[in-house]
Amino acid sequence: MNKVLITGGAGYIASHTNIELLKGDYELVLVDNFINSSAEAMKRVQELSGREITFQQVDLLDTDSLNSVFVQHPDIDSVIHFAALKAVGESVEKPLDYYTNNITGSLNLYSAMKKHGVSKIVFSSSATVYGDPDEIPVRENAPIRATNPYGHTKAMMEQILMDTAKAENWDIALLRYFNPVGAHESGRIGEDPTYPNNLLPFVSQVAAGIREKVVVFGDDWDTPDGTGVRDYIHVTDLAKAHVKSLEKLSNSNGIHIYNIGTGRGYSVLEMINAFSKACGHEVPYTVGPRRDGDIAEVTGNPSKAKEELGWEAELGLTEMVESAWKWQSQNPRGYID
Ligand code: NAD
Ligand code: WQD
Repeated sequence: MNKVLITGGAGYIASHTNIELLKGDYELVLVDNFINSSAEAMKRVQELSGREITFQQVDLLDTDSLNSVFVQHPDIDSVIHFAALKAVGESVEKPLDYYTNNITGSLNLYSAMKKHGVSKIVFSSSATVYGDPDEIPVRENAPIRATNPYGHTKAMMEQILMDTAKAENWDIALLRYFNPVGAHESGRIGEDPTYPNNLLPFVSQVAAGIREKVVVFGDDWDTPDGTGVRDYIHVTDLAKAHVKSLEKLSNSNGIHIYNIGTGRGYSVLEMINAFSKACGHEVPYTVGPRRDGDIAEVTGNPSKAKEELGWEAELGLTEMVESAWKWQSQNPRGYID
């Protein structure tokens, strides 16, 4: 069995990835500091998979605890690095928190990997590194020009990793996720934000009656219906891209960068309408001003991932919104039972 260290292992995307990995020949060691997650997610992953997970509560800023994980598990042969703070608006208000957590945390991780001879890593990057790209669907060789502190941390974490990979002969995959949405088909695990910053969790909470209405951030964008267009990707498809990436790193050296999206965009109004169908009633919304830093449209070209990883998205808009609603309606308070 291959032993994989999962940082941020209790988080939204990690939980779904853990399920997919546990279907295969992988043994998991999870670390998380629970700043944005709960132990209940890991418990449910174990229930759904019928497999045991090793877990340690570790903050990546605590180098001693982090190193002790590698000491206790000398057979860890690869890492998937999810741990990060990820709220764009908060990163503008608290840049030092974001740089410290994301950059120092990653430096500590990469240093521990070097010290303990681990040389394979899959990194959670983001379409945010492209900023407002010149051409869409954007390709992996487009210029990097993030526009906010969170995005800068992702671009820096990529750069540090690429420089390290070259110097140390590491094999790395940088996955640039577009807009992850949806939940596991069981409705047992899903996204559980303290405050919903992204569109779909907000729409879910409005549909559930927790919030009054969705505010659409502008309907005067240069898009077919005037609202913002994004490349939404089902979290289960995204999870599978990590399994494919680990397989790739087991038989191919060097640095690999992939867009992980569907290549197709949906507008805010299309998302709200699809959600209304899934939950069986109209989700109320109002049109408000544009959000600072937003862009009209971004979609990714995922053909490199298809060619090199044999991965492509299989789930569509209906599965995205139906699974999101199943999770929301079965767990109105998230992981708090
Ligand atoms: P999440 O907040 O659910 O998961 C991140 C996990 O990391 C959380 O469990 C959190 O407690 C943990 N964590 C944060 N800092 C830590 C630290 N210093 N030490 C230990 N654990 C720490 O977020 P997610 O949506 O699952 O995102 C996972 C990764 O994917 C992040 O790196 C994020 O930047 C990236 N990403 C997310 C999206 C998105 O829209 N969800 C899009 C692109 C990229
Ligand atoms: C989607 C669309 C909004 C909320 C962010 C990060 C990106 C990545 C994914 C981590 C836009 C509109 C939203 C609302 C709205 N995360 N919207 N009302 O901004 O594309 O990407 O999450 O890496 O880095 O920037 O996602 O879900 O916030 O917005 O009208 O209440 O929905 O304007 O058009 P975004 P989002």
